[in-house]
Amino acid sequence: MTGDLDRPELEVHDDGSRLVAGDPVADDATIEGALRPRTLDAFIGQQRVKDQLGLVLEAASARGRAADHVLLAGPPGLGKTTLSMIIAAELGMPLRVTSGPALQHAGDLAAVLSSLIPGEVLFLDEIHRMSRAAEEMLYLAMEDFRVDIIVGKGPGATAIPLELPPFTLVGATTRAGLLPGPLRDRFGFTAHMDFYETVDLRAILARSAALLDVALTDDAAAEIAGRSRGTPRVANRLLRRVRDFAQVRADGDVDLTIARDALALYEVDEIGLDRLDRAVLDALLRRFGGGPVGLSTLAVAVGEESETVETVCEPFLVRAGLLARTPRGRVATPAAWSHLGLRPPPGSTPPLPFGEAVAAEPDASDPA
Ligand SMILES: Nc1ncnc2c1ncn2[C@@H]1O[C@H](COP(=O)(O)OP(=O)(O)OP(=O)(O)O)[C@@H](O)[C@H]1O
Ligand SMILES: [Mg+2]
Repeated sequence: MTGDLDRPELEVHDDGSRLVAGDPVADDATIEGALRPRTLDAFIGQQRVKDQLGLVLEAASARGRAADHVLLAGPPGLGKTTLSMIIAAELGMPLRVTSGPALQHAGDLAAVLSSLIPGEVLFLDEIHRMSRAAEEMLYLAMEDFRVDIIVGKGPGATAIPLELPPFTLVGATTRAGLLPGPLRDRFGFTAHMDFYETVDLRAILARSAALLDVALTDDAAAEIAGRSRGTPRVANRLLRRVRDFAQVRADGDVDLTIARDALALYEVDEIGLDRLDRAVLDALLRRFGGGPVGLSTLAVAVGEESETVETVCEPFLVRAGLLARTPRGRVATPAAWSHLGLRPPPGSTPPLPFGEAVAAEPDASDPA
């Protein structure tokens, strides 16, 4: 037990950032660079996107021209930024990085566009947050590789056309639905990124463990993968926390027991729900009999803002098939009762979800 003396204290941060959030938290940025795959081959999962993108890039290289503009759409932490870097690397071109919020004026965009070199890849993150004026300039730039620079004001203003070198725009968005049609139409290829399968997350974890020099058993990788909500960023973050636990409480190697104990300590359950997710479900089941209950009532019951419950907890609870949003309010599904080890109140069958949840199910009695 002598080694224990040199081991650091294990800190369980409770600074409000969530271990299972798809969005980046404080210490992600420093480590993510090191864990990013650099080539399309090393990029794990998303096979359909990889195949399609591979073709787009190969065709461009064969023609010796700038590749078509690419839109990467999907939830946070699935690899959009990673893919943008891979696109530039595969094309053998430099990558310029900017983001929608940074382009508040058309002039901001003009400055970036006019300094591109031929064939350069321009990554525009959070493209749905660009200003209207920049957006309109971008239409012309994407289509005709040209911008009109407005000089002067009022009736005396004139537009001076400026030729741009051919470039490849890679746009990324978590909210593809917010993009105006004309912008979406100007992308030659849109990659819709889906949540990852557990097998892919296992492979990602094995790769990350090797890069971080952590001994990780297969069953431990599977355990962490199953709790990662289909999101590589979450998988990598859980791996780092489990590694901390293994270093402080054991010899640093991660096996199934260590992984389970660590994730229990961090309150991430078997399917990736954290304390807040479970509090919401618990209130819905125990206090409101499974619903329907209004969002604001549910939020008050767990002491959170409605918005937090709606944007932070609900999307995953819905995706996991535990909660349904209905016109009458939030309703627990039968799976929610069994997940919390509860029984629906005697005599009541859990109210069936309806509205969107039912519309998604094909109706067997309907011959059409
Ligand atoms: N297919 C993959 N294989 C291996 N690692 C991956 C993969 N996809 C993502 N990652 C890892 O997950 C982390 C987050 O990925 P990335 O930053 O590209 O996500 P994002 O989609 O840009 O997220 P955001 O919407 O928040 O910008 C990176 O550290 C990267 O290493
Ligand atoms: Mg990103």
